[in-house]
This record gives sequence, structure tokens and C-alpha cells, in this order.
Amino acid sequence: MILELVLVVAVISLLLYLFNENCRPSKFPPGVWRLPVIGSLPFLKMPLHEHFTTLSKKYGKIFSLYIGNFPTVVISDANMIREAFKLDALNGRPDSRVFTERSWGKKRGIIFNEGKDWTEQRRFALKNLRDFGFGKGTMEQLILDEVCSFREYLKKFTGSPVSLNREFNLPVLNALWHLIAGERFSFDDQRLRAIIKKLVDNFKAADAGGAIFFFPWFTKLAPKLSGWEAFFSVLKPTMTFLSEPVDEHRKTFNPDNLRDLIDVYLNEISKTTDKTSGFYKDDGDKTIKTVMLDLFVAGAETVSTTLNYSLLYLINFPEVQEKLQKEIATNIGSKLPSLSDRPKMQYLEAFIAETLRYSSFVPNGVFHCALETVEFNGYVIPKGTNIFPNLWQVHFDEAVWGDPKNFRPDRFIDENGHYKKNDNLMPFSVGKRVCLGESLARDEIFLFLTSLLQKFSFEPEVKGSPPSMEASKQGGLILQPQEYKVVLKERTV
Ligand code: HEM
Repeated sequence: MILELVLVVAVISLLLYLFNENCRPSKFPPGVWRLPVIGSLPFLKMPLHEHFTTLSKKYGKIFSLYIGNFPTVVISDANMIREAFKLDALNGRPDSRVFTERSWGKKRGIIFNEGKDWTEQRRFALKNLRDFGFGKGTMEQLILDEVCSFREYLKKFTGSPVSLNREFNLPVLNALWHLIAGERFSFDDQRLRAIIKKLVDNFKAADAGGAIFFFPWFTKLAPKLSGWEAFFSVLKPTMTFLSEPVDEHRKTFNPDNLRDLIDVYLNEISKTTDKTSGFYKDDGDKTIKTVMLDLFVAGAETVSTTLNYSLLYLINFPEVQEKLQKEIATNIGSKLPSLSDRPKMQYLEAFIAETLRYSSFVPNGVFHCALETVEFNGYVIPKGTNIFPNLWQVHFDEAVWGDPKNFRPDRFIDENGHYKKNDNLMPFSVGKRVCLGESLARDEIFLFLTSLLQKFSFEPEVKGSPPSMEASKQGGLILQPQEYKVVLKERTV
């Protein structure tokens, strides 16, 4: 009996070995074993970014695995990521039902699009957002309006422990929404709050290696069990919500008075005669709604997560908070902060950099896909390979940072007390797909943080016992902090 068992195990091992040796493309980076159909999934552990870090110690800064039948390469070195994302051939997005179902069965819009249509849409959105004030004084004024309203709104929370977890979404979304749709939301808008909550829950559910992304057959076979049903339950209400301003704009559209991004899209759609263009007729209608969804999701969740982590670190490190408040008192005083104050706020700049590094809340970036087979770093990356940049590892590499597990803004300060840039910090990714909202995000983080620290102090619920700085165990595309409470105290400068 034992002999038979040993024989069976030996034959299976041999078959697996032969399968792994013969089914790997030649010169593919070394990496994790795979099984037929399910690929390397049984050999992976959550959270993925941490397991990828362990794996890279074994296989190197570029290694491979299989998600189902999809070859996947993980890159964990800043320079290699920079080189890879310079290449057009490595700037696609994977084929996944998750990326296409949200845009009428086809890749559209910006975030999950690729090729000629992606280039056209990204360029168009960026140019027109800039024309309407993105990265200019107009945007600053819009953000400051939100900052002022938000500070007033926060006053009702002072004195007793409160969770501000979901409070940042609307104020940070509002400035961008003004450019997109010419309107702002009330901080108490219950319908929108419910949509954002669901979207965030879905981010958590969408674990980067999860079935939902790479096993279309499973999501069709078992929509409930695979999480597909829950994942998409939010799509319909969100799309209805986003369609309303588009329909409203159509009714009052005047080509001689383009009021915001929606009008500019409607204008482009009305002018387009090229049937292959993403702006053509019905396609144009689907494009505009997908772009709105892209900007809505990215705009609502990322900056607010950064502010959430910032507060968490401030209450964990009261001496850092005090230093920041002193910097504000010295350089800004009691006037409303503005972007022109930024060069004077060197320690705050370092604090923001350290917050983005330490939280690394988009740990695996947004995965890319090879549009063509390329030779890279001595290996071959075949067309169709998924590429994960392990940004988390780049930000926690001991060889680069020395003591990455310590939260220490001073690592970004030079001997003259000035902010010191480090090219290994890449929370917005790099290359041609670098985050489209980086400048807006940086402006918002700066203005919100300075204004909040000017008017409030932040303390833990229990004095001397600050909440954990570990991210919530639930993985996903975005790592959220664990729910925590904070006590706000009003202050005057
Ligand atoms: C701290 C805040 C933010 C962080 C850390 C962040 C991070 C990222 C990352 C890592 C990517 C993936 C880039 C790649 O594929 O290599 C990305 C893409 C993107 N982000 Fe952001 N983001 C932030 C804020 C925003 C905001 C406020 C907007 C709204 C305008 C935005 C819009 C986008 C868009 C549209 C893309 C897709 C770009 C493309 O595929 O061409 N992001 N972001």
C-alpha cells in the first residue's frame, strides 16, 4: 500500500515537473510552480504583496507565476519597473471580465483601456481637465472651497471619539466633480455615500489574485460563490447615478458655451465622423460614462485613503504632529493655506512622502499586460503576460531605505532641513500610464492636511494607546487602514 502511494506521488510529481518545464515559454523569468487550469494559485498566500516580497527573495526581482492560464510577471525593483513601463509594449491592461463588463463588454475609457483608444482618451481627458483648471489656480480655489466647508463640517465632531473613515470621500471628490459635471455634492448626500461605501467594499473584495479577475468561467458558473454578483451589484446604481448629469447636460447643451468636461465630450461626440473612434455616436456615449466612472472611482477613494492614513500616523506620532503645526504657525500663520506656501512647508512634504511610502496602499499598482512579446532584462515576456509592479516591496526594500518598517518622515529631509526627493518612491507608478490624477492628488493632500492641522489637533481615543497602523487584513486593489477612532480638538494658531 505504502509503495503504491509513493509510486502515485512520484508519478504525479514527475508529471507536474514535466508540465512546468515544458509549458514555460523559453527564457521566461523563473518562478512559482503551476498546476493545469488553476495555475500557481494554490502556492500563493495572502496578502499578495507580502508573499510576492518573500518570493522575490527566492527567485529574484523579476519572477513569474501563473494566474489560471495567464502567465504573470512580478517586478519588484524601482529601476526595472521604470524601464518596463517606458515600453509601449508593456502598457496594456489584462483581458478580464472585471475590466470590460463595466464598459459594455469592451475595454473603454482610461484606467482599463489600452492601445489607440486609450492614448486618445487619456490625452483628451487630460488636455480638457487642464483647460478647465486642473493643475491651475481654478483648481486650487475649488479645493480651498471644499477645505473651508469641510473644516466647518468637522466642528460638529469635536470632543468625542469619532471615525472619520468615510468622511473624506466627498470633499476630495467635489473639487474634481466640479470640473467634470459643474456641480458639487453635499457632504450628507446619502445616496452618494451609499454608492461610495459599496465601491470601496468592492475594492476590498477585488483581491488582485482573486478568482474574479482571471477565471471568467468560474464567475459565469458560480456568480454568487465567485463573488461576481456582489462585485457587480454596485455597478448599476453607480452607472445610473453617473448617467443623470450626462442626460441633464444633453438637454441644455450649447456648443458655444462648453461648461465642463461633460460638455466637452458631448461636443466631441457631435463632431466625430470616424466610425473607429471611441467618440463615435453610441460608442461616444459609452466612452463618456466609462471615463466618468474611472475618474469618480479614482477621485473618490485614493486621496481620502491618504488622508485617512495621515490622521492615523499623526495620532500615533504626536511629536510629528506638533512639528507640523509649528511649521504651519511659522510659515502660514492663521491665513488660509495656499499652494504658494508649499516651498516653505518642507517637513510637511516629507510627512506626505513618508505617508505614501509607509501606507503603500496601491501595493501592486494597477496591473499592466504585454501587448507584444518583448525581451526584457535578459528574459522574454510573451504577449498576453500580466505584469504586477510590486510597489509595496519597492517602498519596503531594506537595501534602499535602511529601516523601512519605521515611520520616519526625516528620511526625506536633507542636512539643510530641506525636503529630499527619493526616486524609489513611486506611489503613483511611473511611465506612460503614470496616475493621471497625480498633480490633483498632491495639491489636495497638501491643502487638506495644512488646513486641518491648522484648525484641529488629533488625539487617539485612549490617551497613550494609539490605534494599530497595520492595514486592514482584507486585501484588494487598495489597502485600507483598520477602522479607528480619533478625538478632534479645535485649536487656534
Ligand atoms: C494618492 C492618490 C493616488 C494614488 C496613490 C494613485 C495611484 C495610481 C496608480 C498606482 C495608478 C496605476 C498606474 C499604472 O497603471 O501604472 C493610477 C492610475 C490612475 N489614476 Fe491615480 N492615484 C491617486 C489619485 C488619483 C486621482 C485623484 C485621480 C483622479 C483624477 C486618479 C486617476 C487615475 C487614472 C485615470 C489612472 C489610470 C491611468 C492610465 O491607465 O492611463 N488618481 N493611480
